[in-house]
Amino acid sequence: MELSFGCILSSKTNLKCGRKVYTFSMAAMEFENLFIITTVSAIGFISVFKSFINFLRWVWVMFLRPSKNLKEYGSWALITGSTDGIGKALAFDLASRGLNLVLVGRNPLKLESTSSEIHEKYGGKVGIKKIVIDLAKSSGKEIAQVIEEEIKGLDVGILINNAGVAYPYAKFFHEIDSELAESITKVNIEAATWITWSVLPGMLKKKKGAIVNIGSASTVVTPSYPLYTIYAASKAYLAMFSRCISLEYKQQGIDVQCQMHC
Ligand SMILES: NC(=O)c1ccc[n+]([C@@H]2O[C@H](COP(=O)([O-])OP(=O)(O)OC[C@H]3O[C@@H](n4cnc5c(N)ncnc54)[C@H](OP(=O)(O)O)[C@@H]3O)[C@@H](O)[C@H]2O)c1
Repeated sequence: MELSFGCILSSKTNLKCGRKVYTFSMAAMEFENLFIITTVSAIGFISVFKSFINFLRWVWVMFLRPSKNLKEYGSWALITGSTDGIGKALAFDLASRGLNLVLVGRNPLKLESTSSEIHEKYGGKVGIKKIVIDLAKSSGKEIAQVIEEEIKGLDVGILINNAGVAYPYAKFFHEIDSELAESITKVNIEAATWITWSVLPGMLKKKKGAIVNIGSASTVVTPSYPLYTIYAASKAYLAMFSRCISLEYKQQGIDVQCQMHC
């Protein structure tokens, strides 16, 4: 037995070995090859299978899963930046599902016109409350106070932190004017944090709620996003903020999502 072991380890010894030992050495090599082939095939199979399961899950989520009754979270949804773009579209979508809306914006005229458009389309069925506040010009605590005061007595089940400020065009970090830098950090980071802070206690009481933070694909698609540094960093904050509070409050019935738009 000792000799045959030596044969496997040393090819010189192998040549001098008898037939039995040679056969044993070949068998060991075959076993080794078989082991490598089986292991590589298993790893390949597992990764293909995993991709297939992910694909099936994507098809299910995108096309087949029945949509949730969002009113189960509560009868009101609060949306920041609801006077334009994605926020406005979300306001219309939520109104179509029968939710009442708290529209947060800085421009009273735009708020009024959004509100009338929604009423025109969905009639008087949708209750709308407007909160006029400039999220870039108020401190976090001021924002929280205003929101807390305005939503008192409302069953707010959904919060959408959508308001966001981006660069008008690519700029080096040292070229950004202080006003833009401040707006980005205040609206994208501070306002989202403090509004969540003021809406969350109501959700915790009911043990249900949904918080949707509108992030950016820059956080996940690229390893870095130069020339949009503060914007990208602010959205990375939002992604991490979302992941953390999701874990903190999942057990309390609160769903948190960070949507990564491109
Ligand atoms: N569109 C994209 O391609 C894209 C891609 C990735 C991520 N996103 C994110 O998606 C969100 C919405 O983007 P969007 O393209 O729909 O933006 P948008 O069309 O520029 O609308 C932004 C909304 O935020 C409001 N807002 C801006 N500054 C505010 C402030 N200081 N106080 C209160 N409200 C303020 C705006 O109000 P006013 O009407 O008064 O200006 C507007 O209602 C943002 O968070 C953005 O970063 C967008």
